[in-house]
Amino acid sequence: MAGQDNTIAVIGCGLIGQGWSALFASYGYEVKAWDPAANWDSSFEAAVEAARAQVRVLRGAPRQEGSIVVADSLEDAVRGAFWIQENAPESVPLKIDLYSRIEAVAEPDAIIASSTSSLTWTELSQHLRHRERFITAHPFNPPHLMPLVELYAPEASVRAKAEDFYNGLQRKTVALSRDAVGHIANRLASALWREAVNIVDQGIADVSAVDAALVHGPGLRWSVVGAHMAYHLGGGSGGIEHYLEHLGPSQERRWSSLGSPKLTPELCRRIVDGVMQEAAGRSMAELQAERDAGLMRALAARKEDAP
Ligand SMILES: NC(=O)c1ccc[n+]([C@@H]2O[C@H](COP(=O)([O-])OP(=O)(O)OC[C@H]3O[C@@H](n4cnc5c(N)ncnc54)[C@H](O)[C@@H]3O)[C@@H](O)[C@H]2O)c1
Repeated sequence: MAGQDNTIAVIGCGLIGQGWSALFASYGYEVKAWDPAANWDSSFEAAVEAARAQVRVLRGAPRQEGSIVVADSLEDAVRGAFWIQENAPESVPLKIDLYSRIEAVAEPDAIIASSTSSLTWTELSQHLRHRERFITAHPFNPPHLMPLVELYAPEASVRAKAEDFYNGLQRKTVALSRDAVGHIANRLASALWREAVNIVDQGIADVSAVDAALVHGPGLRWSVVGAHMAYHLGGGSGGIEHYLEHLGPSQERRWSSLGSPKLTPELCRRIVDGVMQEAAGRSMAELQAERDAGLMRALAARKEDAP
């Protein structure tokens, strides 16, 4: 994108800030990145370069890409930016303090978007002078590959602006009607992981079996139809109405047998051991590369979601 509204401030440049920076620059925006950690910029630059290369593979022919500049200060990054994507650690006081510094220098019509996974708009915006231009815009990791961005923006015109902005980056936006801890996807993911841990705790299956069941079963189906639509199809010609009538009671039976495990030291140890066994000696970098390669194959196969 060219024009006046071309500069984006990326505040907090760990895992999520790196992915956003790569995506924004791939779409021609000028990124000003800032992080308070000492010597953060060399690992940031290497990670962003690798992420930009992945986006290039998916988007094909080279386009007009933007640059990424490491800013000297928070204020330097924020001044002149039309979009501010905050990816600081998940702490209410830390983020509130950050927003007061951002608000002091931000352009009057700049949008302040938080990538928060589980904090709510209400708690994060409580001390802002102009709450209406603050939104939560939650990506899924890694943000330069995963299409989902969950939005909560109570002001309709700001929500429309956010939808336009993220859709322009080929993201799939989903808007919440009400502020909620964990938005939509992390609530679903947490519900699922709670039972995945419970299955291990109860000795029903080990970590690898749980993960394999998910990847080769529902995970594959959920990548094309959501939970509700999957059961509509599970009802055959009678659809969801028949499904609820026929198999609703068996769902309720399963719901009543689900667990609520406590993450005791003993259970944590079993989960860690199980994951190490599943990783089978592969390093974090190798696991991440395998995950990214799988995601890129899936994205290439479903072109509407490729960045
Ligand atoms: N990791 C995920 O899977 C994921 C997914 C979606 C959203 N998020 C959200 O994104 C945000 C960042 O998470 P992450 O995983 O990138 O964390 P991270 O630990 O990788 O990065 C956080 C960065 O913030 C910097 N930082 C520390 N204090 C700061 C401050 N006062 N102001 C600005 N930056 C500061 C740190 O130096 C670090 O580089 C969190 O709100 C998290 O909930 C994380």
